[in-house]
Amino acid sequence: MTKIGIDAMSFYVPHRYIALSELAEHHGIDPGKFSRGIGQEKIAMPGADEDIVTMAAEAAQVLIDDHGAEGIDTVLFATETGIDQSKAAGIYVHRLLNLPENCRAVELKQACYSATAALQMACGHVARKPTARVLVIASDVARYDRDTSGEPTQGAAAVAMLVCANPGLMEIDPETGCHTEDIMDFWRPNYRRTPLFDGKYSALRYLDAVLSTWRDYQANGGRRYEDLTRFCYHLPFSRMGEKAHRHLAKHAGAKPDAAAASDGMTYARQVGNCYAASLYLSLISTLETSQDDLTDQAIGLFSYGSGAVAEFFSGRIVAGYRDRLYTARHADLLQHRDAVSYSGYTELWERVDPRDGTAVTLPKQSRGQFRLAGFNEHQRLYVKD
Ligand code: HMG
Repeated sequence: MTKIGIDAMSFYVPHRYIALSELAEHHGIDPGKFSRGIGQEKIAMPGADEDIVTMAAEAAQVLIDDHGAEGIDTVLFATETGIDQSKAAGIYVHRLLNLPENCRAVELKQACYSATAALQMACGHVARKPTARVLVIASDVARYDRDTSGEPTQGAAAVAMLVCANPGLMEIDPETGCHTEDIMDFWRPNYRRTPLFDGKYSALRYLDAVLSTWRDYQANGGRRYEDLTRFCYHLPFSRMGEKAHRHLAKHAGAKPDAAAASDGMTYARQVGNCYAASLYLSLISTLETSQDDLTDQAIGLFSYGSGAVAEFFSGRIVAGYRDRLYTARHADLLQHRDAVSYSGYTELWERVDPRDGTAVTLPKQSRGQFRLAGFNEHQRLYVKD
């Protein structure tokens, strides 16, 4: 059977962040609650001229530069911070990246889960048309109301992946375990900028979904726990992944092995929650920060999107994978960022897009090559500098 999976992947994170120590100081709480209690260090903050489209284009451009656009006939854009109720964000990216005209582009939504649906759909499409390549993008800005328990778990980033036959990075196993239940743990009505959520309840539902998807994955012929050498989790905050991993190990009758999931948390601590992109940032983090050679190793992945849909699946790392990573570029993005003060953070947080169709020109602030140059007649104006 033809192997299908991820040929290359990269992420992008905006260059501003607020350190959680700064947030803790402002709220007068022990910074250890954030650094150890939830396991987070920084919240990535997009500027006025950055959004899910510009972050997505930045993440995807490097893949197109290195692997070309030929054969890309589908763009799947996963997000829960959509910028339009009708038009798919992927269409802007399609134009900015100069992708082939004979291509479909759609947007997928199911909280943080949708990128996994996109990845599985991409694999299905390539199974039917093995010459095709699919660009899968996950891009989100995780924003919670200030002074809520969710505030320290904000963040922003995009991950782009090329999916094709005989991939160079990771073959995705066909066996998978799914879980859907209608719950109100986190949701965002169309009229709100920020979600409503029940943090403790959401964490409990997340843990239950780990076991439900694992059981289904096993029932469908998935790999044994001991055959998976690394685990990647959706990471609303890194401690959630640690708890999930202990929970799964206990259920599988295995010794808790924190190291098997820890490489996946390195980048998340520096970025924050990035919703649909989070699990895939964890996968990149695992591949790029692991000291061990992961060739031929099997990795387990757990995807969770509130509301809720979850999936456990797995894949095998392909020989030569290290040559396809963007480790130096990603390290550079993470290391060369600017810290903002609490007032700088509130300024970025409060900014809203115009709603009356007036023309607005945005000065260049982003460090990337793509930006939102402004608005006119209710249209968003994206440019490549
Ligand atoms: P909280 O209620 O403020 O925190 O926020 P807490 O009081 O439970 O403390 C957290 C941990 O810090 C505790 O440890 C404390 O003991 C510890 P634990 O009991 O968990 O082991 N702690 C300290 N540790 C060291 N030094 C200290 C200290 N003080 C306390 N001084 C909560 C926690 C998860 C509720 C909050 O972050 C939240 O509401 N987050 C938003 C919702 C969320 O992230 N849910 C996760 C599951 S749902 C999901 O992942 C989907 C999602 O991504 C959305 C989507 O799908 O679109 C959110």
